[in-house]
Amino acid sequence: MKIAHISDIHCNYGTDFNPKIFDKAVSMLNKIEADLVFISGDLTTDGLLNEYEFAKEKLKKIEGKLAIVPGNHDERNLGWKLFPEFFGNTDFIHTYGNIVFVGLGSSEPDQDNGRLGRSRHKLIERGIKKNKMTVLGFHHHVVPVPHSGRETNIIDDAGETLDIILKNKIPLVLMGHRHVPWAVKIHKTLLVNAGTFSCNRTRAHYGNTFNIIDINDDIIEVTVINIRKDKKKKMIEFNLSDGCCDNRYYDVENKM
Ligand SMILES: [Fe+2]
Ligand SMILES: [Fe+2]
Repeated sequence: MKIAHISDIHCNYGTDFNPKIFDKAVSMLNKIEADLVFISGDLTTDGLLNEYEFAKEKLKKIEGKLAIVPGNHDERNLGWKLFPEFFGNTDFIHTYGNIVFVGLGSSEPDQDNGRLGRSRHKLIERGIKKNKMTVLGFHHHVVPVPHSGRETNIIDDAGETLDIILKNKIPLVLMGHRHVPWAVKIHKTLLVNAGTFSCNRTRAHYGNTFNIIDINDDIIEVTVINIRKDKKKKMIEFNLSDGCCDNRYYDVENKM
């Protein structure tokens, strides 16, 4: 199973969106032929109707199955009303082969921080099936992400959420929001953030990136694709059966 995890596209008519990078990124993405492309929010910058229309048009270039959740930017200016019209339910359980994918809307209208709340916690529990791997995907992060500035936007109920994730040994959680690719293993769980796919607001040398997640039996491997440099680098490898984790995430000194 191969999941392409992209995030923070930020379609808009101002300075956020980089169309050249987007087109290059999509051609790289389509060559990978992932089984699933997960987009972890911030498809727009201000949640405006013309941005939603723009994003919808742009996403037509991406081939394959898409799973999409909203980000904080998508919920601005009543954008939360538009998201389901353009991209479907914000919360869902989909099955892809051996994987049960639980998508969750973590954003609140006109707020940058987010929360999941009890109903989504129940949805997580509903997505846990015997003999299937549960993968969660939402926009905000549950633990602080290094190199992403002062911590402000972690979800309000991060403690409860992390407790459910760790107690149920959910192996993989995919998030975005911070515009920095990162991964960390806690107990039997791998928490992974994708960087920004096509937003000009990048941090230091991180640039525009997306993640490829290869799941082969008990091994989960995450590779970061640097779009501008057309380079890939393994970020982390996680063995589910023995809990071992070879963490090679790069830092800002180690330019890709
Ligand atoms: Fe963003
Ligand atoms: Fe965000």
